[in-house]
Amino acid sequence: MIKTIAVIEGDDAAPEAMQPVVQLLDSMNIGLEWVYPEVGEAAEAKTGSPFPDEARATIDNADTTFFGSSSGSSGASLMYLRWGKQTYANVRPCLHLPGCASPLANPEGIDFVIVRENLEDLYVGCEGPLEDLEPLNLRGRTIRQPVHTLGTGKYAIKAITREGTERVVRFSFELARRRHRQDPSRAPKLTCATKHNMLRGSDGFFLEVAAEIASEYDDVEFESFIVDDFACRMIRDPQALDVVVMPNLYGDILSDAAGGLVGSLGLAASGCFGDDYAYFEPAHGTAPDIAGQHIINPTAALLSATMMLEHLGFTDEARKIENAVFRVYANGQALTPDQGGTTSTEDFCTAVARAL
Ligand code: IPM
Ligand code: MG
Repeated sequence: MIKTIAVIEGDDAAPEAMQPVVQLLDSMNIGLEWVYPEVGEAAEAKTGSPFPDEARATIDNADTTFFGSSSGSSGASLMYLRWGKQTYANVRPCLHLPGCASPLANPEGIDFVIVRENLEDLYVGCEGPLEDLEPLNLRGRTIRQPVHTLGTGKYAIKAITREGTERVVRFSFELARRRHRQDPSRAPKLTCATKHNMLRGSDGFFLEVAAEIASEYDDVEFESFIVDDFACRMIRDPQALDVVVMPNLYGDILSDAAGGLVGSLGLAASGCFGDDYAYFEPAHGTAPDIAGQHIINPTAALLSATMMLEHLGFTDEARKIENAVFRVYANGQALTPDQGGTTSTEDFCTAVARAL
């Protein structure tokens, strides 16, 4: 059973994390085939487009994509992986690995997952000059004058749909069930975080739809917090969380915060799931400040890769790598600088390979 994985290594320091992780997976000899769609500047120089048709076809023909963080022109491929492939559920686990340098006094037992709605909200990308809104003569609930008369400025549209909310909330409930099946000692719970007190029409609608779906899942506890209160709770009592669902932008911001909670963004894995496609990417960005130094923490890429292996049906191999990563942290000998060590990205991966 050969599985084909499209690899986009990304920009700045991202390839330094991606390459040794691909090598590690490849060395397991489980029948993975790697293909490299050409995107970004390299593709632009050759074809005039940062995301040519060939790259798109390579992604479409692959079983999944392993994506390093991108900046600049390779961002077009990210847009395709999200909106083109309709990967609406961005799953971002937050797990304390004993041995990691968390800023918390008691990080033990942190194990929750943020499911970020991945396609809607302010990310529909509709922005423009306020004056364009004149024909609508919109009055907000707070301002006293039509919004286009406020001054010279810009607007952005936040779109929340019933369809988009239903599918990500159902996905989150199913995830809570699955986690409970994997570990019956974990009581399944879904927490919804929205700014429904202020944004009644949009976030209020997200919560309303989530609460409706909750009635189909009476085996899973459902709770809801205003997102600012949630942010405080996530830091004060992260062990109380299981699965958390939220609109796109809050999920973007709070998943970085969750990475910091357990030690660093270098630990933040993610997988984006749609009904027909899923792709996997470390959530940490391209780390331009450390590009070329080979010190980027590859844990986020490794744990994204384990999510990918699980998705492809290699559950045992996924667990093996995860456990090897846990052992390297528990052992504490081979840590990257963000975790207080001096180990390079490649040597960290070698330590994981040894622990396998
Ligand atoms: C992420 C990133 C992206 C986002 C950027 C690169 C567009 O921050 O995956 O969290 O905002 O979604
Ligand atoms: Mg982000």
